[in-house]
Amino acid sequence: MAKLKAVCHFHLLLFLFLFSSFHLSTQLPLSQSQSLLQIQQLLNYPQALSSFNTVTDFCNIESTPFLTIVCYEDNITQLHIVGDVLQHSPSFPLNTSTDSLFSTFSHFPNLKVLSLVSLGLEGPLPPSVANLLSLEILNLSSNSLYGSIPHQLSSSKTLQFINLDGNCFSGNIPAWIGSLPFLTTLSLRNNSFNGSLPDSIAHMWSLRILSLSRNSLSGNVPDLSNLTNLQVLELGDNLLGPHFPKLPQRLSILELKNNRFRSSIPPELGSLYRLEKLDLSSNKLVGPFQASLLGLPSIKYLNIGGNRLTGLLLQNISCNSDLTFANLSSNLLTGDLPACLQEFKYKNGEIIYGGNCLSNQDQKQNPLNFCHNEALAVSIRPRNLEHRKLRREVMTFLRIFGGSVAGVVVLALVFLTMRKTYKMGVVKEPSTRFITENPSVTDTTKQLYDAKYISQTMKLGTSIPPYRTFTLDELKEATNNFDVSTLISESLDGQIFKGVFTDGSVVAIRSLALKRRQTPQTYTHQLELISKLRHIHLISALGHCYEFLPDGLTISKVFLIFEYYPYGTLRSHVSGLPGQKLSWTKRISAAIEMVKGIQFLHTGIVPGVCSNNLKITDILLDQDLHVKISCYNLPIVVEHGGMMISGVPSTGTKGKRHAIGVNHKDKNDVYDIGAILLEIILGRQITSQNEVHVSRDLLQVSLKTDEIARKSIVDPVIHKGCSDDSLITMMEICVRCLHEKAKDRPSVEDILWNLHFAGQVQESSREAPTSPSPSSSSQIP
Ligand SMILES: *[C@@H]1O[C@H](CO)[C@@H](O)[C@H](O)[C@H]1NC(C)=O
Ligand SMILES: *[C@@H]1O[C@H](CO)[C@@H](O)[C@H](O)[C@H]1NC(C)=O
Ligand SMILES: *[C@@H]1O[C@H](CO)[C@@H](O)[C@H](O)[C@H]1NC(C)=O
Ligand SMILES: *[C@@H]1O[C@H](CO)[C@@H](O)[C@H](O)[C@H]1NC(C)=O
Ligand SMILES: *[C@@H]1O[C@H](CO)[C@@H](O)[C@H](O)[C@H]1NC(C)=O
Ligand SMILES: *[C@@H]1O[C@H](CO)[C@@H](O)[C@H](O)[C@H]1NC(C)=O
Ligand SMILES: *[C@@H]1O[C@H](CO)[C@@H](O)[C@H](O)[C@H]1NC(C)=O
Ligand SMILES: *[C@@H]1O[C@H](CO)[C@@H](O)[C@H](O)[C@H]1NC(C)=O
Repeated sequence: MAKLKAVCHFHLLLFLFLFSSFHLSTQLPLSQSQSLLQIQQLLNYPQALSSFNTVTDFCNIESTPFLTIVCYEDNITQLHIVGDVLQHSPSFPLNTSTDSLFSTFSHFPNLKVLSLVSLGLEGPLPPSVANLLSLEILNLSSNSLYGSIPHQLSSSKTLQFINLDGNCFSGNIPAWIGSLPFLTTLSLRNNSFNGSLPDSIAHMWSLRILSLSRNSLSGNVPDLSNLTNLQVLELGDNLLGPHFPKLPQRLSILELKNNRFRSSIPPELGSLYRLEKLDLSSNKLVGPFQASLLGLPSIKYLNIGGNRLTGLLLQNISCNSDLTFANLSSNLLTGDLPACLQEFKYKNGEIIYGGNCLSNQDQKQNPLNFCHNEALAVSIRPRNLEHRKLRREVMTFLRIFGGSVAGVVVLALVFLTMRKTYKMGVVKEPSTRFITENPSVTDTTKQLYDAKYISQTMKLGTSIPPYRTFTLDELKEATNNFDVSTLISESLDGQIFKGVFTDGSVVAIRSLALKRRQTPQTYTHQLELISKLRHIHLISALGHCYEFLPDGLTISKVFLIFEYYPYGTLRSHVSGLPGQKLSWTKRISAAIEMVKGIQFLHTGIVPGVCSNNLKITDILLDQDLHVKISCYNLPIVVEHGGMMISGVPSTGTKGKRHAIGVNHKDKNDVYDIGAILLEIILGRQITSQNEVHVSRDLLQVSLKTDEIARKSIVDPVIHKGCSDDSLITMMEICVRCLHEKAKDRPSVEDILWNLHFAGQVQESSREAPTSPSPSSSSQIP
């Protein structure tokens, strides 16, 4: 029995096959099927589960946006049910207590993902939820659950994702949450949590997303600077403050709006090079506004409106080219609106700056002395302190003069002045005016969520026709009865044909010959997985077809039908003929797309597809130069196999570089990414393991030298267009990917971040020929 890797070598999946040959069908155990029916009843027959009335094979129910069931080896591993009950709807649809509902899940011991969204669940979250010992993702958003989060969950060793958004949970955020070892996402938005944030949050090193907006949290935020993985911090609409929190380096979204932060903005904020969205609006922030924030390399959305920030803006301040929304309104800024912000009018962006003291008069401004007076007051000490001190001085004065007429007059004068100042602060409401609409911030959040969440990624790749079963006649017609002229390649295990259907669509048809006869059930689970491997950056299977023996029961051949792309490989576009070579910018985006495809293989289905042994020749390009990964580790094993669908010879690097041990399986792919990045950077074919080592060391050395030395080793074609900063970023991530020890290689997300960053610095360097680092932007004096 041979192993196949994807469409090339399906190695590693031998064991999958061994498993599946003992399980000839994927029928659920009776207890699990019955539990599903019971859940249907307890949830009061929601529309989402209507298919339960007609289907008995629950594992093969077609996924819908409202229902997804994923099974692995006869056990349910994922259950997503999305209802349509409006939050706090007066009609109470649940036909049970939450207790009996959650105890039903004990029949699914292998459940990894549980989403019960918008189902009108009302009641406390029962402790029995902690009995799900494999649970990784818990999504109970948009229900009416109340009370506290049961402390029994603290013993979970597997939870990675908790989403309780849009419920009525209350009390403190429990301190034990900091001890969940693998928690990457904690989202408790729109509940009634109060009290301060537990200090234990500061030690949740695996945390990537912390969203606690719209609660009643108060007090200072613990020091988060050690949370090196944190990318999203959303604490808006609470009562937090007064000190500005200490933040980690890799944040891309920071939302602190509508709290009680009263301090100044720390200068470290200017070093958050990945920050895309910054919302500090409606606090009482004081001190200078650092105009360099407008030039952060990733910034797209900046809102500091409704604070008491001071400073002189200059016309020549530079902004990041992706910035499309800036709200500076209702502060104490003076000077001229930077020219780069005025350009928003032409870029479909939005800039709001009313209620300051700027020289631009098209959005209502205050007179200059207003800002100076207020600035004087706030820059010395917060207003109320100022007043208290003033009052104390008046009292001392009165005591000395013992209520004399002079005292009364002075007192009256002082109070009059105070009232006038106070009124000015209140009355001067900003009159904001929109220049254009369409802030494009939500995209970023969405991308992040897409990348992380299994159910989201399943929806990608929708432009491909739906997976289906093909008939043998269709295939015969498309290949002129498997005529030799349509043969792309052939080996012991079967053949690959190019097929053209009557509607003109072209496909690659791969036939897998079977030695031992099997029934279709043998392949049901494997084909189910294959049908879910769909992503814009993968060559996806469009369907399959069985050829039966005359008995009509046993299969003699399995055909897999794939998309067909005859436009060449990444190799031919980076180290091939000079005329075909991609520019530096295109190379970075090809690398990004490739890594997105690999990220999908790892996280898009359960179990993820790892150890894909990818080579640069497996990375195909479509007619628009977008990446399609071809030879990934297809989760199917047959008697014989080992070919490719693309007809592209595979001469990539081979070697014993793969890490052994299950924990770092995905790091094998990271190494392969490194080898491909090497070729992208150097622009020459790298075909042996030894060459990979030598070239990696070369890159490492050149990182310590100067730009000229660095450029001397890269592809001459990209010399002119390539910014040194983006080259350094690419070289660094490439070297890290090729680390000998699997555990020291970066995560796929980390790679993606770095590639995006390289793309951004490259982009900004093309606009402004000077260095794009944040420090080069001008500061408010
Ligand atoms: C499926 O669940 C049963 C218990 O219900 C367990 O014995 C079996 O090992 C599970 N199968 C897998 C592949 O985990
Ligand atoms: C509610 O559940 C009970 C059993 O738990 C069942 O007898 C009854 O028919 C259900 N009601 C509805 C409306 O489904
Ligand atoms: C928050 O919850 C309220 C009801 O409590 C709901 O009306 C509102 O739409 C929710 N907001 C978001 C953004 O989910
Ligand atoms: C939090 O809210 C509860 C009522 O839900 C109240 O008893 C408690 O005092 C509040 N705690 C704080 C710190 O505000
Ligand atoms: C951050 O980590 C360092 C080193 O591990 C440690 O010394 C420091 O106390 C930590 N800071 C916080 C706020 O936990
Ligand atoms: C800009 O900020 C001001 C002050 O916080 C706020 O009132 C206004 O709604 C904001 N405008 C937009 C479009 O966010
Ligand atoms: C911006 O203009 C000011 C004078 O208006 C000048 O002093 C400053 O050097 C300029 N800064 C840059 C970066 O050009
Ligand atoms: C959780 O449910 C919300 C809908 O409220 C959805 O937006 C989100 O993607 C879900 N997350 C997962 C991991 O299923």
